[in-house]
Amino acid sequence: MNAQLDAGLLPGVGVNRIASDEVPWLAYPLIENSLFKILKVDEITNTVILKFRMGPHVTTPKHGHHCVATAYTISGEWFYEDLEFRAGDIAYECTTDIHQPLTREKPAELLTTFIGGRGNDCLLEEYGEDGKPYMLRTRFFKALEGITQEQLTRLDLAALLA
Ligand SMILES: [Fe+2]
Repeated sequence: MNAQLDAGLLPGVGVNRIASDEVPWLAYPLIENSLFKILKVDEITNTVILKFRMGPHVTTPKHGHHCVATAYTISGEWFYEDLEFRAGDIAYECTTDIHQPLTREKPAELLTTFIGGRGNDCLLEEYGEDGKPYMLRTRFFKALEGITQEQLTRLDLAALLA
């Protein structure tokens, strides 16, 4: 018996340091006036860790989750309609119900985690301005991991969202 496998953990991965300050911020391609940096994508457990910065007056696409999503507020403030998150607050989300993060006068910086689990690569279902949904799977975030801004501009996002 392998206790790590039984617990859904990865044998041999060990402890890793991720120096988030050494990862460059990139312009997030799906949301204006926002930046991101992908810190870790684990394609076995479908886990994504990223930092996300929204400028003031940013409205993100409506979305629901097919995973567990968390967002720790590092700085600033952001909102779901009347629900307000300030520095130190954590959003814990596990619902396909539609919600829509936004900022008002202040920017916000978040540390976000998506955990799909083994065999589930569906993380976010976002809705375009036309109301049509598209799925952000683990592979979308994997393609954004460790790339430069120039590489990002050459990515075929439509193919990654198909
Ligand atoms: Fe969410």
